Amino acid sequence: MKSKKKSTKSKKNTAKLIINSNTYQLPIHKATEGSDVINITKLFSESGYFTYDPGFTSTAACESKVTYIDGEKGILRYRGIDVSELAEKSDFIEVSNLLIYGDLPNQKQLKKYRKLIVNHTMLNEQLIKFFNGFRRDAHPMAMMVGVMGALSAFYQDSLDINDPHQRMTAARRIIAKAATIGAMSYKYSVGQPFVYPDNELSYAENFLNMCFSVPSENYKIPKIISRAMDIILILHADHEQNASTSTVRLAGSSGANPFACVAAGVASLWGPAHGGANQAALEMLETIGNKNNIDKYIEKAKDKTDEFKLMGFGHRVYKNYDPRAKILKNICKKVLAHVGVKKDPILELAIELEKRALKDSYFIQKKLYPNVDFYSGIILRAIGFPPEMFTVIFSIARTAGWTAQWTEMIDDPIQKIGRPRQLYTGNKSQKYGKIRSKKNTR
Ligand code: SDX
Repeated sequence: MKSKKKSTKSKKNTAKLIINSNTYQLPIHKATEGSDVINITKLFSESGYFTYDPGFTSTAACESKVTYIDGEKGILRYRGIDVSELAEKSDFIEVSNLLIYGDLPNQKQLKKYRKLIVNHTMLNEQLIKFFNGFRRDAHPMAMMVGVMGALSAFYQDSLDINDPHQRMTAARRIIAKAATIGAMSYKYSVGQPFVYPDNELSYAENFLNMCFSVPSENYKIPKIISRAMDIILILHADHEQNASTSTVRLAGSSGANPFACVAAGVASLWGPAHGGANQAALEMLETIGNKNNIDKYIEKAKDKTDEFKLMGFGHRVYKNYDPRAKILKNICKKVLAHVGVKKDPILELAIELEKRALKDSYFIQKKLYPNVDFYSGIILRAIGFPPEMFTVIFSIARTAGWTAQWTEMIDDPIQKIGRPRQLYTGNKSQKYGKIRSKKNTR
């Protein structure tokens, strides 16, 4: 009886793959939420076959406990807590602690953690000189990538990834200094003097102060603006194994130092298909200009011969409304009202574009909904940021998720260097020979 039960059990937890009449038993690992996985780690050694999945549409690259997304239902949870609840009740620093340590801190732990973070908000004075090497019109993300990577040249006492204390110090330095680097990138691009961190302020207030205060006058941080900033940081903090987080993990799997790994993540996030979409979405709305042009651009987005896409729309995982977009859409109106914009033509345009796209069969069939980047730019622009700063702000927030995922990976006992294989379809073996390629494609 027992064996029967065992065999039923083993059947349930094993997938069978038959290739050329050979049967391979592949273990199934159960998820606590969402999709179970088929473990193929031994497939190549046993069968000589690779699996093929460009873009990793059906591939889990790791096991993680940090963030859960249900794409069909439009659910996002950090360590099991719904992001909408965290946006309402928490703040970015507490959320970064939750992501890294796995549960909410008590008041004493949170107080100590906040102190540890603010102890790292300043940059080494030598490092600040790096900004002078950039042109004033350099994209702030170019400065973010460069200066974030350069942190490894200044903080050698937190490079040993095998020392848990150094790992946590590096994580705190990255989160704390990201806001300072981002703000200095902005100040440098507008030709204003750098504003040093003020450790009496909250993380969001400090970032706004470093961006918008000037030596010649007092800068008062409106509560509604700092709260909106804090919520934007919370909503962008982590998102499972997205392109930039996977970049950080892959870089980290070689043993590279955390500053270099996060700089790689910043670089990946910059792409318009990823974190750069917030800037691209606002620029798209400005190009569309008014409601009369909406249908023309929706047709362009559907036209396979046209590379135009509705920026801020669609998602690899969400086949429903991105829960973050819902929250951001509600904040838009509050922030615009605060800055005295009763009717923002860009917001009106975005709402009308969303309405028409969601009624269109192409978007319905392909399950394309607004994502986090569709409304975030409207809020950030209302707060006073230029579009070039939108992805910088995304990268500042994502340092919480990148460091949480990186520390989880380093702690994972089965972690090894990431080294994907390929389907090779190039030349077979050939001699050096005299015949040269006839193709004049060079
Ligand atoms: C982020 O991964 C994450 O979690 C990322 C992120 C995070 O927090 O880290 O959520 C942040 O990057 C959000 C996404 C921001 N990017 C954009 O808004 C750019 C516009 N969106 C697309 O480029 C696209 O939707 C992606 C890149 C987001 C997702 O691409 P996929 O999963 O590879 O899907 P796909 O490109 O294969 O699209 C499926 C179909 C295609 O048509 P067919 O080839 O099947 O005919 O939908 C079409 C696409 O052409 N499509 C779109 C579209 N997005 C997808 N058509 C028009 N407009 C769009 N925006």
